[in-house]
Amino acid sequence: MNLLTEPTFSPISAEETRRLLAEAKKARARAYTPYSQYKVGAALLTKSGRIYGGCNIENASYGATICAERVAVARAVAEGEQEFVALAVVADGPEPGSPCGICRQFLAEFAPRLTLIMANLTGKERYGSLDQYLPYAFNKDYLDGEEAD
Ligand code: THU
Repeated sequence: MNLLTEPTFSPISAEETRRLLAEAKKARARAYTPYSQYKVGAALLTKSGRIYGGCNIENASYGATICAERVAVARAVAEGEQEFVALAVVADGPEPGSPCGICRQFLAEFAPRLTLIMANLTGKERYGSLDQYLPYAFNKDYLDGEEAD
């Protein structure tokens, strides 16, 4: 595992990007957000070519809320998938949705260089790589006492 100084970006096709954004929007429609009203949708593309959607699910005990991104990852892992290519996130606001810190950490466990596609509902888009959004991520190498290469 690298401690990265330069972000790497593995672009996916324009068609796949559109498809992921469409799936993220579909997932967003199922968000359960009685407290914040802030609906988020995510769509995770795996190496096998499958797409797992996720939406945020809030709770009366606010801290029990789970973000859309982590729902998508949990769904994929529960289906036996651990190799991820790209994640799209869609939210409504002036800026494209952006994975929170916990979600960045959660994603980095499986895909430290995941391609991120972020958008809002007016079509403002931002692209990046997870290592750009979470540089020097804490990972299992630290627990193993291994030097990162
Ligand atoms: N939220 C997400 O689903 N993903 C993020 O990365 C940012 C925050 C959700 C959690 C909560 O339901 C609402 O947005 C407001 O924080």
